[in-house]
Amino acid sequence: MKQLFIQDLKKGDTIFGESFAVKYYKRSATRNNKPFIDIELADKTGTIRGKIWSDDMANCKEVVPGDVVSVNGTIEEFQGRLQLRLTNLSKLRDFNLEDYQTRSRNDIDKMFAEITDTIKNIKNPHIKSLLSNIFDDAKFAEDFRNASAAYTVHHSYLGGLLEHTTEVLAIAKTLIKRFPKLNKDVLFSGAILHDIGKVFEFEVGTTVTIRTEGKLLGHIFLGTEYIKNKAPKDIPADLLNEILHLILSHHGELQFGSPVVPMTGEAVALNMCDKTSSQTNMAYRSIFENNATEEFTEYHRQLGTELYRSPYQNDLMNEDIPF
Ligand SMILES: [Fe+2]
Ligand SMILES: [Fe+2]
Repeated sequence: MKQLFIQDLKKGDTIFGESFAVKYYKRSATRNNKPFIDIELADKTGTIRGKIWSDDMANCKEVVPGDVVSVNGTIEEFQGRLQLRLTNLSKLRDFNLEDYQTRSRNDIDKMFAEITDTIKNIKNPHIKSLLSNIFDDAKFAEDFRNASAAYTVHHSYLGGLLEHTTEVLAIAKTLIKRFPKLNKDVLFSGAILHDIGKVFEFEVGTTVTIRTEGKLLGHIFLGTEYIKNKAPKDIPADLLNEILHLILSHHGELQFGSPVVPMTGEAVALNMCDKTSSQTNMAYRSIFENNATEEFTEYHRQLGTELYRSPYQNDLMNEDIPF
């Protein structure tokens, strides 16, 4: 049974036979052309980067992301963050999956209850029965609770889709108070449904991987198709179109994968709610993950910048956490 977790590792520790999931594995070379391997290991408490230098390669088996491995090595510090120097690496076949899966820090039952409570309060009977047709299916509900919202970019962990969906919904609930003529039932159903195609797009194991179906079809198509199939027979066609439009346009721009741009007030609002949740999550995880202490994060490709770690951040800690 796994005893030592990444959150417990300290500089100077020597580890022997400890197990982690491989998140990233790539052969590389120094400027002098000496080969080395860049690796990132994970468990349910976090991730740590590592290096296998050329002298240690003979004792390290070749692995791929998703494998669970047993390692020997020492914990060093490089540019303000812990790094593992591996001296031995072998693949493990027998392990408890839950120890290695990164999951949402929020309570999955409470987040899911927020979705079902919102569905209960939907007034339009057609929208309500569409949502019930989808979420009353126990198999779908279970898959939705465990799904990831991405495989690298944002909310990329077990429960990540639920976390992202409840964030989008909470932002939509705030927004609607300021724009009372927007259709609440349409906007909230769009918030709940906009990324459901991700249930079919990704596979959540020790790491999140994209399925062939997800790669070929994408979550916008997969979600739209699923919603169309679950629509009640008596839903007016124009109402269903408005909901499908929210799903199809939620990425906001054609270059981000949406086949149409937002053309209703609710669609414009949903695109902004989606962006707020996903981009804040990216920045937040980059700044606060893995107890890094450097003043700036590494360059964040999606956000197009490094991010500053404010020395005042602990003074401002928000204790009013929703879940
Ligand atoms: Fe999306
Ligand atoms: Fe989204």
